[in-house]
Amino acid sequence: MNTQIVPLTQDEDKEALLAKLSQAGKIIKSGGLVAFPTETVYGLGGDALNETSSQKIYEAKGRPSDNPLIVHIADMEHLEKIVQDIPEYAKKLADAFWPGPLTMILKKSDAVPYQTTGGLDTVAVRMPAHPLALIFIKEAGGYVAAPSANLSGKPSPTRAKYVIQDMDGRIDMILDADSEADGAIGIESTIVDLTGDVPMILRPGYITQEMLENVIGKTDTDVTILDEHSKQPPKAPGMKYRHYAPKGELVIVEGEPQQVVNYINEQTMLHAQKGEKTGVIGTDETIRQYTADSVKNAGARGDLLSAAQQLYTFLREFDDENIAYIYSEAFPAGGIGQAVMNRLLKAAGHQCIKL
Ligand code: TXA
Ligand code: MG
Repeated sequence: MNTQIVPLTQDEDKEALLAKLSQAGKIIKSGGLVAFPTETVYGLGGDALNETSSQKIYEAKGRPSDNPLIVHIADMEHLEKIVQDIPEYAKKLADAFWPGPLTMILKKSDAVPYQTTGGLDTVAVRMPAHPLALIFIKEAGGYVAAPSANLSGKPSPTRAKYVIQDMDGRIDMILDADSEADGAIGIESTIVDLTGDVPMILRPGYITQEMLENVIGKTDTDVTILDEHSKQPPKAPGMKYRHYAPKGELVIVEGEPQQVVNYINEQTMLHAQKGEKTGVIGTDETIRQYTADSVKNAGARGDLLSAAQQLYTFLREFDDENIAYIYSEAFPAGGIGQAVMNRLLKAAGHQCIKL
């Protein structure tokens, strides 16, 4: 398949921009697949109400089909068609956080095929905050099913160049908005399940438990997120798979900052003696001390948004640089730090050394 790559910017000529997004929308309406930018990561979109489109998404990603997709909408009125009812909680959360990086799980209506929900009676819905994504979704008919636009198992793409690496030849079109991707959040949306008695976070993200509780009161977090050794299966099917993995072996190191630096430098030196290439993810506070071949700065430990924004890019860059062994500092788990650590632990296959 020939994949069209279409560069976009918000400040280009309005008519030209609309023409591109409307062409992308037509592809979705006729059952094709288009990758598009969001404020979190790039999505791999298809018509959420068309079962064949959802099947094609699973094929293009190489994703197990029991792992449900998120339906992206651009208009609050569109929500009614795809869910059985809209609980009060959902209205409040939509008011507070949509458009934005929050996905809500609700009971699905008959309009949503089981292919989209991985066989579940519930559906994940989100309204992304990216202005171009919102126009694209409207042009596509209002309901775009989209997982992250990476091959299954690889880090989610924060840049179109990584979408192209994974999806060129597998989908119809890639909308490339990289020229303005810098403000993106970089990790996927927070998922909150509103189908039980108490709202429950199934995947942490930029919208934290505290932010949710300020709007709807008591909210729980799936135990499998809080306890990395939990034997229970996670409630979001996708969270059970190994994810985001770089090709090199990734180990997280937790402890006093100076001990962590010393330990990582010892390890990278041993690898270097064997001729093995090494990488490190450090922070403003420690970065100058590392001696690995490739050293990436996640920013200040007190502001982990920068770590979230860059994490997947770092993992992809280590691959591009053929790094065989990667060490990352552990990050404090407050605020968005919980989401960063959740993704980092998955990427590391839970290899975490506590000094
Ligand atoms: O930020 C995001 O959410 C990005 C962008 C593209 O919007 N999308 C994304 O999609 O991360 P994906 O498919 O990579 O992750 C969706 C997650 C999976 O872990 C899946 O198992 C879970 O959402 N999920 C979807 N529907 C669900 C449902 N009905 N019940 C429980 N979990 C669900
Ligand atoms: Mg994903």
